[in-house]
Amino acid sequence: MATTLFIQANNRPAEYSVSVKMYETFLSSYEESYPLDSIVKVNLYDEQLPYLGATMITGNYKVAQSMTLTWEEESEQQIIRKHLEQFLAADKIVIAFPLWNLTVPAVLHTYLDYLHQPRKTFKYTAEGLVGLLPDKKVAILNARGGVYAETEELAVHFVKAHLQVFGIRDITTIVIEGHNQYPDRRDSIIAEGLRNTALAAKGF
Ligand SMILES: Cc1cc2nc3c(=O)[nH]c(=O)nc-3n(C[C@H](O)[C@H](O)[C@H](O)COP(=O)(O)O)c2cc1C
Repeated sequence: MATTLFIQANNRPAEYSVSVKMYETFLSSYEESYPLDSIVKVNLYDEQLPYLGATMITGNYKVAQSMTLTWEEESEQQIIRKHLEQFLAADKIVIAFPLWNLTVPAVLHTYLDYLHQPRKTFKYTAEGLVGLLPDKKVAILNARGGVYAETEELAVHFVKAHLQVFGIRDITTIVIEGHNQYPDRRDSIIAEGLRNTALAAKGF
């Protein structure tokens, strides 16, 4: 029995949002296929997610040095710990997000910032960074209105680069794209993408 963390980085209603449709499709197919798994759901828009900045960076430093934190530093560290522990406790992680303004929603960027913790998700070595989470499995679910060459794309690429720092190699990527660029084919692009999403969940 696995613990699976579902991260949703979009708070639009599913009827308007393709990436939320992907999230819901994957979730219901997954629940059907793995009824005994423990599922944890996080919509990042329901969370308090302070930006990475002086308070958080100083807090991280003070924790590493066993120094006393201010009240503000401690309260941000508690938020980091909550998300970090949830991520570390999961065997499998599903991340659903849209492409907005060429990148990921800011909440997802901030969430990923929290996961960069030396000795927890990666370590420094003479050969460079080594990821500490090689056994985790991740499914990336992304929707983008246009069609992008892999080298131009800045959202899926961005998330994968973070996962690679953590040593995560087992990554399934499902993308629905082009439904805005080709409005005449919109419905069939989305329908086929959601079929692929449901199928991927069964084998995840
Ligand atoms: C604020 C906003 C910004 C967007 N920026 C882009 C973009 O840069 N490139 C693109 O191809 N599509 C863009 N789109 C279209 C989305 O990628 C498309 O709606 C996709 O389905 C993901 O968003 P959704 O899950 O909310 O539907 C944008 C949509 C919105 C609402």
